[in-house]
Amino acid sequence: MKFFIDTANLKEIAIAQSWGILDGVTTNPSLMAKEGIKGHDNILKHYVDICNIVDGDVSAEVIALDFDGMMREAEILATLHKNIVVKVPMTKDGIKAVKALSNQGIKTNCTLVFSAGQAILAAKAGATYVSPFVGRLDDISADGIALISQMVNIFTAQDYKTQILAASLRHPMHIVQCAEIGVDVVTCPFNSIEQLFHHPLTNSGLEKFMEDFKKSQQ
Ligand code: G3P
Repeated sequence: MKFFIDTANLKEIAIAQSWGILDGVTTNPSLMAKEGIKGHDNILKHYVDICNIVDGDVSAEVIALDFDGMMREAEILATLHKNIVVKVPMTKDGIKAVKALSNQGIKTNCTLVFSAGQAILAAKAGATYVSPFVGRLDDISADGIALISQMVNIFTAQDYKTQILAASLRHPMHIVQCAEIGVDVVTCPFNSIEQLFHHPLTNSGLEKFMEDFKKSQQ
């Protein structure tokens, strides 16, 4: 299972990269806005800065909602760096764009997916990744992890090449559940990745080892 970080914060990306477990980055317009990145040129530069930190796929989302606009933006984004993946929303124009970009050999991530039917469309269109939003389904009392499970079953049965990129993950157990189900990629906020490190028995065990080592040296 590949680990992507779901942030546009360069510091968080650099720290996760330094741990040696990072395979890529996902961003979206909200995450870019959170970092205060404004203006066309600054946004493009920020994507390049991210690509210079991580040697893996970096999703950059189009803003246009119409097919022609999405294609124009996608062509600019795709030339920024070899690792850019063009993120396109799950709409009719979005699926058309995914198909056209996939025909051109441009990597895509179909985002804002909330049902198995939408995921099938993304796979049929040749998306490189499809992003179901787990946490946002949980938010409305649906079962985000159940959708991931259903998608893994369908993609296995149909031998779809599109990778399932579980998004909107909110806590470490979401990551563990995705791993159990056999998802291809998880994209997680920095805190959720960081929380995976922690266990109280690791801390107390290490403390005891250090204490005993010191005693043995006296
Ligand atoms: O990758 C999609 C993700 O950024 C959405 O997460 O927590 O805003 O639902 P969240």
